[in-house]
Amino acid sequence: MRRHILTLILCTAVSMGFLFWANIATISLSNAKPPSNCKDCHSGAKAVEMGLEDVYAKIDSLPFKHSIVEEEKCDLCHIIRGFKTGRTWELSSPDAQKEHVFFLKDLSWDRKYKVDLRIKDNSGKEIPAESVQFIPSQVSLAISNDQSAPLLKNVEVEEVRQKIFLEAVIRWETDEPSNSVVEYGLTPQYGQTVISEKVFLKRHKVAISGLKGGKQYHYRVLSRDIFGNINSSDDFILNTSEQISKEEGVRGIDKSQLVVKEVSTFKIKETKDIYLKVVSDKPIRAYLTVNEPAEIDKHGFGLAPSRFSRIDACVRCHAQGASHPVGIMSKGPKTKIPAELPTVEGGIITCVTCHYAHGGNKRYFARLDFQRDMCMACHTGAPFI
Ligand code: HEC
Ligand code: HEC
Ligand code: HEC
Ligand code: HEC
Ligand code: HEC
Repeated sequence: MRRHILTLILCTAVSMGFLFWANIATISLSNAKPPSNCKDCHSGAKAVEMGLEDVYAKIDSLPFKHSIVEEEKCDLCHIIRGFKTGRTWELSSPDAQKEHVFFLKDLSWDRKYKVDLRIKDNSGKEIPAESVQFIPSQVSLAISNDQSAPLLKNVEVEEVRQKIFLEAVIRWETDEPSNSVVEYGLTPQYGQTVISEKVFLKRHKVAISGLKGGKQYHYRVLSRDIFGNINSSDDFILNTSEQISKEEGVRGIDKSQLVVKEVSTFKIKETKDIYLKVVSDKPIRAYLTVNEPAEIDKHGFGLAPSRFSRIDACVRCHAQGASHPVGIMSKGPKTKIPAELPTVEGGIITCVTCHYAHGGNKRYFARLDFQRDMCMACHTGAPFI
């Protein structure tokens, strides 16, 4: 990708009674040309056809032109690069299971996702698996809340061992895929919590670390299903004065072919939460790579919000203090902004409240007559300073 450095030196002296120093702004652009040509739609017959104004003709007709607009550096103010670029993240099962339900958090409703799935059997051998593609808004399988909390059973301490820290592993089972939470502490009030909730499972294993030796810890486990129905166990005691190991030994090598029975996406009715379910006939480990694509539309990676186009973009080149303060709104009846002057977000003044962005009929692209009492246009309750 080309990189362009634009260095701009502006010497500005304002007649508001202040003198300002030279402002040197260095802007680093990842790509100076817009990804799409603005002219294709915003000028000539095409604009008319699309019901848009011919901005180029309008700019041509202006006696005072903003040089960067003339040079067609439109994206400097209108496009935020990286605003909607894609992301990739990974999820994996903590140990081998027959059923995994992964919560795919914070997805955009209308983008097309690709989830690469890797599956390994108990011996660590990789099983081929297809990738899954979907658009959240088009996921048709929607399931309703079962209104019942998971049943918890077989809660036990699998292991207490001295590694760098003294660590314990608690395991339990649930009758439906749920998250895994352990609360523990030296009293029945617990005080400490370990949560694992990116993947919903039926067999739970949670390691708690940094324990003190020779103590009686209280603990309980909690599991919440994907609908939010939650259940907790009774209080149990964990004794750290002895090491325990109940880890399941490696069973005889099972040579029969492993079958992945289901890989599907679903959502919960009336929500935008998307889940991915993987079911197999033998315990597997699943590794997911979720790929969110960059969103490219007619405006590249996205038309910048108006506050960006009207303040942030301007102060890349012009010193913020070189003119009237912006990003503020009227504090009271002494200041009233005339309705014909544009503001954003319910009254916030921007550079474009007083200056046209593309250029104008007056010097400084002024919307108001900067020579005559322009301050009084808004600061009606004189004296204001
Ligand atoms: C494929 C046609 C197309 C291209 C190319 C295009 N636009 Fe647009 N633009 C539109 C349409 C149509 C709208 C009307 C609103 C909408 O659909 O988003 C619009 C809206 C806008 C608006 C908002 C106007 C308003 O009143 O809110 C701005 C600003 C804008 N475009 C700037 C640009 C810039 C800058 C470029 C070049 C980087 C560009 N456009 C490229 C079609 C296009
Ligand atoms: C200095 C920053 C800046 C540059 C550069 C710039 N614009 Fe704008 N543009 C704005 C702002 C701010 C607005 C909103 C202005 C307003 O409401 O008066 C705007 C408005 C628009 C609109 C909405 C219609 C209109 O006239 O209000 C379109 C379309 C547009 N610009 C296209 C372009 C195109 C095409 C270019 C490149 C030739 C360009 N702009 C260059 C800041 C800029
Ligand atoms: C890429 C740098 C750049 C950005 C971004 C930019 N400007 Fe400018 N601006 C310039 C340059 C260079 C000049 C001086 C040459 C000219 O008159 O166009 C200028 C001139 C001006 C002037 C006229 C000054 C004079 O002496 O006549 C005003 C007013 C102005 N800009 C306002 C804005 C506003 C408002 C924005 C944001 C919507 C903005 N500029 C964004 C580079 C920039
Ligand atoms: C409340 C109205 C108002 C707002 C808001 C405003 N300006 Fe100005 N701006 C003025 C006035 C008045 C002048 C001085 C004109 C003169 O010198 O006679 C001016 C002058 C300028 C000049 C040209 C003077 C010079 O230094 O050469 C630039 C560039 C400029 N403003 C940019 C901006 C930018 C960028 C913003 C937003 C950060 C902004 N203005 C916000 C009113 C405003
Ligand atoms: C478009 C309307 C508008 C115009 C024109 C305008 N102001 Fe303001 N000004 C505001 C608003 C809104 C505030 C926010 C605080 C308030 O309500 O007074 C403000 C605040 C101020 C402040 C206090 C800044 C702060 O940080 O609280 C000063 C100083 C000021 N203006 C000076 C001027 C001068 C000098 C002029 C004429 C060159 C002028 N203003 C023209 C709208 C305007």
